[in-house]
Amino acid sequence: MRLADSFRSERFGAVRIHELQRVIELDSGALADTLGVSGGSRIVGPEALRAVETQLVVIVPCMNETRSVIEGVLSGIPHDCLIVLVSNSDRGPVDRYEIEAQTVEQFCRLAGRSAITVHQRDPGVAAAFKAAGMDELIDDAGLIRAGKGEAMLVGMAVAAMTGRRYIGYVDADNYVPGAVHEYCKAYAAGLALAESPYSMVRISWHSKPKLRDGRLFFSRRGRSSEVTNEWLNRFLAEYSHFGTEVIATGNAGEHAMSLELGLKLRLAGGFAVEPYEYVDLFEQFGGILESPHPEVMASSVPVLQIETRNPHFHDNKGEEHVVSMRMQALNVLYHSQITLPAVRQAILDFMVSQGALEIGQEPPRERVYPPVGTLALDLLYDALDAEAQTFCQLDGRAAAGLPASPPIERDRIPV
Ligand code: GDD
Repeated sequence: MRLADSFRSERFGAVRIHELQRVIELDSGALADTLGVSGGSRIVGPEALRAVETQLVVIVPCMNETRSVIEGVLSGIPHDCLIVLVSNSDRGPVDRYEIEAQTVEQFCRLAGRSAITVHQRDPGVAAAFKAAGMDELIDDAGLIRAGKGEAMLVGMAVAAMTGRRYIGYVDADNYVPGAVHEYCKAYAAGLALAESPYSMVRISWHSKPKLRDGRLFFSRRGRSSEVTNEWLNRFLAEYSHFGTEVIATGNAGEHAMSLELGLKLRLAGGFAVEPYEYVDLFEQFGGILESPHPEVMASSVPVLQIETRNPHFHDNKGEEHVVSMRMQALNVLYHSQITLPAVRQAILDFMVSQGALEIGQEPPRERVYPPVGTLALDLLYDALDAEAQTFCQLDGRAAAGLPASPPIERDRIPV
């Protein structure tokens, strides 16, 4: 893959946000075997991509998506990545999770691949997270809370048990397998280029096709991202006294990171999860508050933002959903202890002007969970193995008649 070089980055403490880098070539050729620089672009050759992919777990949060769309998504994930599907789909009257698990199983059998599937609302999964030390995730019914952020947290914990080094997230409702493939390649390229063990790669898709008056229109911006990015940039500008547009990926559902970073992050629930990743990076590594991780402060936290080429064509869940997503982003920014008063007041005024709040009301607080790195992963595994009926490991090697190699090996779980 060939990416435009990123010449500029903005720093906030140890966090280094690189300006958006375009994908120049999806495939930069077999000869470009290593990481290279060439005329304003960066090449990440096939071997360097593969080295990351063999360490990459791709987590697919899924709630009631169509079988053929899920199949397409799976087909786009590079062969060497491990797939983890975390579902919150209906179990009745039709058991949609059963259909999803079967889809993943068939795919793995045909492709000779390994994967893990699990249902977020399985009582055994709740018991496992409780045993491992995260009561905060459990709701009044004794189950893991519903929400995309919660699914991402479950996926991260499962990924951490595999001992692989990186995770990436891909939505299950993407109609274009080629786009999924490109996102994963961009993750691998970005993670290979990032010069720190604590790195993150966030995707900004090039366009989203929409029908307007019977014609396709390729919209450049997401209705939620536009607002989220603007406010995150205002947050930065209030500190630096310089206007900026550096953040282009505030809502990026598609993103990846090293687990060395991910395990330290506090994840937010629902759709606050992606914007809160920025907020948490600023809180933990921005140099304003004392960092719980001096080793990270002594290094750096590069955030690479990559503009991909495929159109992002996915299920449209409606206007109300979009409004709710952007308000969740503003809620987390408003409540951050490092958001400066002028920005906080401006957020309040904006929310009132949008009809999201009455005058005198405060934005609601989103749920924020402790870092996945605080979990006892060995206890998590034992309880999942014993109690979670939906927790299923598919072993591609064993299915192909080779010696068994389950994605998680109990005696190799990092503790
Ligand atoms: N397991 C699980 N649990 N999956 C969920 C849940 C949940 O509670 N809620 C949603 N999902 C899955 C959906 O099935 C889909 O695959 C993915 O998460 C994204 O959810 P959507 O509801 O389709 O969100 P969206 O497409 O409108 O928004 C996406 O893009 C935004 C940026 O434009 C999401 O990725 C957002 O997080 C992102 O900010």
